[in-house]
Amino acid sequence: MPTFDDIQTALRAHPRRWLITGCAGFIGSNLLETLLRLDQTVVGLDNLSTGFRHNLDEVRSLVTDSQWQRFTFLHGDIRDPRMCRQVVAGVDKVLHQAALGSVPRSIADPLATSDTNINGFLHMLVAARDAQVSSFVYAASSSTYGDHPDLPKVEERIGKPLSPYALTKYVNELYADVFFRCYGLRTVGLRYFNVFGKRQDPNGAYAAVIPRWIASMLAGRQVQIHGDGSTSRDFCYVENAVQANLLAAMVPVDAGSAVYNVAVNEATTLNQLFAYLKTILTAHGVMAIMEPLHTAFRAGDVRHSQADVSKAMRELGYAPAYRIDAGLAAAVPWYCQHLGNSAPGAGAAVSAAVSAGVSAVASASASAGASAGNSADVTASADVSHAHAG
Ligand SMILES: NC(=O)c1ccc[n+]([C@@H]2O[C@H](COP(=O)([O-])OP(=O)(O)OC[C@H]3O[C@@H](n4cnc5c(N)ncnc54)[C@H](O)[C@@H]3O)[C@@H](O)[C@H]2O)c1
Repeated sequence: MPTFDDIQTALRAHPRRWLITGCAGFIGSNLLETLLRLDQTVVGLDNLSTGFRHNLDEVRSLVTDSQWQRFTFLHGDIRDPRMCRQVVAGVDKVLHQAALGSVPRSIADPLATSDTNINGFLHMLVAARDAQVSSFVYAASSSTYGDHPDLPKVEERIGKPLSPYALTKYVNELYADVFFRCYGLRTVGLRYFNVFGKRQDPNGAYAAVIPRWIASMLAGRQVQIHGDGSTSRDFCYVENAVQANLLAAMVPVDAGSAVYNVAVNEATTLNQLFAYLKTILTAHGVMAIMEPLHTAFRAGDVRHSQADVSKAMRELGYAPAYRIDAGLAAAVPWYCQHLGNSAPGAGAAVSAAVSAGVSAVASASASAGASAGNSADVTASADVSHAHAG
């Protein structure tokens, strides 16, 4: 079984042509950065609905000019079959990340989620089949475990979907499997569990818990936890997800169509998460972080989620290199650097302090938060539900 290092060496020696859909998003832009650093040729598709050009600009600043010249970006939509055909032409490996994420978003607007996540997915499968790509790796989700009570989660045992989003991600798995059976398209679904890291959007109603909390702490706002904080998740640093994608694309899967959990097999409670973030941010000079506000448990929130990752380890050679503490230590400096100017509620004094890396951050931002009377509560319910959405 080749290691991740072996795969990277092989890719450098024989570069491939890749398509990343959702390349301007969080996970997609991290995939793009890694592939360009490995001197691969990459086509990227994104409609910029939840992704950003500034993510692409940042990747550009992190690679050499010649690596960047191997990247072609198309601003387009996976719901457009012609666009799907165009971007997949001549491509060897597809990493399909484009989707509308978030359980609460799907509950608010199931049609939009279904249109992109099911119809768009199907367009991509058809285009990939017709272009005869060698592998089609796609973002699946831990939300597919639905109401199944077993822990840790093993790929074969799933429950009933608990949201339109979870349903769309399960339909993806069913379609991918059918495309292997009917057309021989090799597909691998990666069931991500709460991925976090640089370039994950901290803003908006559907932001994930880690970037939202970091943004709140940087801005001096109180974070809110539904329940006593014992709710736990298997938080997965984005480099682990990048590794899983490259392995899934390169290691031949005997079954021809398979799904794998992508996480660490480690449960972290929300209280522990808060403590980790407080310690790391304090070490970055952010002082006087407010204790979280605990409110009632929310009906419907899954209390615990943890992945058994042994199937990916056994069949793909997956070896997650980052546990949560190392992942947070790697991610937090990025937020300190980038949220100085954009953290909601952060004033100019905060921006200046964050970018200067001085410890005046918290007192300045605490007053920004206090004067607005804002805790992070408007979106904390989205926090925790997204935390279990996977
Ligand atoms: N982040 C997680 O914890 C997590 C967990 C489970 C599954 N996933 C899945 O991983 C994938 C990537 O998620 P992410 O966290 O990077 O989210 P993201 O929102 O940052 O990235 C998704 C990207 O897809 C693009 N996109 C959306 N609809 C599109 C369309 N119709 N056509 C073209 N582009 C479109 C967006 O603009 C965005 O850039 C998604 O499929 C998501 O469902 C993520």
